[in-house]
Amino acid sequence: MYANKEYSSSIMDNSGTIRIGDVNYDFPIMMGTESEGAIDLRTLRSKSGYIAFDEGYGNTGSCESSITFINGEKGILRHRGYPIEQLAERSSFLETAYLIMYGQLPNMVTLSAYKRNILSNATLDAKMYPLFEGFHKDSHPMAMLSAIVNSLCTYHSEYATNSRKLDLEHFDAASSILMSKARSIAAMSYRKKMGLPMMESDSNKSYAEDFLHMMFSKQGMPYEDTCGASKALDLFFLLHADHEQNCSTSTVRMVASSGANLFASISAGISALWGPSHGGANMAVIEMLEAIHASGDDGSGFIEAAKSGQAKLMGFGHRVYKNYDPRAKILGKSAVSVLEKIGVNDPLLDIARRLERAALEDDYFIKRKLYPNVDFYSGIILKAIGIPVDFFTVMFALGRIPGWMANWKEIAENPKSRIHRPRQIYIGENERNFIKLEKRK
Ligand code: SDX
Repeated sequence: MYANKEYSSSIMDNSGTIRIGDVNYDFPIMMGTESEGAIDLRTLRSKSGYIAFDEGYGNTGSCESSITFINGEKGILRHRGYPIEQLAERSSFLETAYLIMYGQLPNMVTLSAYKRNILSNATLDAKMYPLFEGFHKDSHPMAMLSAIVNSLCTYHSEYATNSRKLDLEHFDAASSILMSKARSIAAMSYRKKMGLPMMESDSNKSYAEDFLHMMFSKQGMPYEDTCGASKALDLFFLLHADHEQNCSTSTVRMVASSGANLFASISAGISALWGPSHGGANMAVIEMLEAIHASGDDGSGFIEAAKSGQAKLMGFGHRVYKNYDPRAKILGKSAVSVLEKIGVNDPLLDIARRLERAALEDDYFIKRKLYPNVDFYSGIILKAIGIPVDFFTVMFALGRIPGWMANWKEIAENPKSRIHRPRQIYIGENERNFIKLEKRK
C-alpha cells in the first residue's frame, strides 16, 4: 500500500520539493545548457525511503552528456551544437563522426589524417575468416555483426583490457579499427551469405564508396557508382550517427558503466538496435510498404488497421519527437533524388508519400503527435542502391557506431561514473517456506 502522496515541486532557490504524506523533501534542480530542467533525485531513497518509478525511462535522465541535443517538441537535432540540417548539407559522415567523438570539427590536417587512418584500417585479421564460416547460411546479418564485432576483443586484445584507464588511452586506435572494420564485417557477411569470395578494401575510395565496393564488386567487374549511391549512403550514415540516449546508446552506456571494453559495449548496442521498435523498423517499413503494394490497398486500409491497433505504422512515431523528425525530412528528399538519378519510379515511395499525407491529416496520428521518423524513408534509399532488406539495420548500425563510441568515451572519461544499476518495485510473492517434493499437491 502507498501512503497518500501529494507532489508539489517549485523552484525555491533552485531546488524542488516533493511532499510525501506530511513530510517535504527538497532536491536540487539541474539545468542544462539548453535550459532543460531536471530534479536531481540521487538522494531520494536515502532521504525518503522511496524510489522514483518511470518504466521505459520516458521522464528519467540517466546521464549528463554534451554530444547531442534534441528538442522533440520543435524537431531540433544538433551534434555538438551543429544543426543536423547544416551537417547534412555541408559535412561528410567521417567529419561528423569525428565531431561527435571528439567534440570539435576537425581542421584540414586532422581530417585527412583521420580519413587515412580509418580507410587504411579495413582489412580483417585472416584468423577471423573462419568465424564467418561458422554461421548458419540463413543467419541474420545483425547476429553476425554483433558477434564478430565482439570478437574484435580477441584479435585486438591490447585495446580491450577492461581496464578503463588503458582502454581509454587506446580509444583513438580502437575506435578507428571499429569504424573501419565494421564495414568489412558487414560486407563479408553479405558475400558469405551470397556465396561470393571476399573483396579486399580499396583505401583510395571514400568510406561509403569502399563499402559498396566491398559489397558488390566482383572479380574483373569492379562496382561502379552510377547513381550517386555512395553520396546517398554517406548522407544516410551521417543522419544515423548519434541520437542522444536512445535504446541502443543507453545499452552501450549501461555496458560501459561496468568497465567493459569498447568492442563489447558496441556489440551490445548492435543487439539492442536490432528490435523492430528501434533500428529494426527500417526493415519493417519496407516489408509494410511491400505488403500494402501487394494487397492493392492504396494505404487507407492500412491506416485504419493502425488506428484500430491491429497494425503499427512502422517508421512513424517517436518517444522524443512529437514533431517531424528532421532526419526524415532530409531522407525523404534524398529518396526522391536517388530514385530520379537511377531513373526508377518505385511504387513504394508513392505508397509512403500517400501514407504520410493521410496520417498527417488524421486525428488519430495528430492527437498522438505521430510523425515520420528516421526509418520511414531510409529503406527506400537503401533498396534503390541495392542493399538487401535484411542488411538495412546493419546500415543503421554502421552509421550509429560513432555515436555509440562517443557515449562509451563519455562514461570512460568520467571519474565519477558509477555502474548503472536501476532499482525496481517488487510485485512477487511475500516470504513463504519451502515445501518438500512429496508434500506438494
Ligand atoms: C528509432 O529513441 C530514438 O532516438 C530512436 C531513433 C534513433 O535514432 O536512435 O530515433 C531510431 O528507433 C526510431 C523509431 C523506430 N520505430 C518505429 O518506427 C516503430 C513504430 N513506432 C512505434 O513502435 C512507437 O512509436 C515507438 C516505439 C517509436 C515509440 O513508442 P512510445 O514512445 O512508447 O509510444 P507509445 O507506444 O506509448 O505510443 C503512444 C500512442 C499509443 O496509442 P494509445 O495507447 O495512446 O492509444 O501512439 C500509438 C500507440 O499505440 N502509436 C502508434 C505508433 N506509434 C505509437 N500507432 C500506430 N503506429 C505507430 N507507429
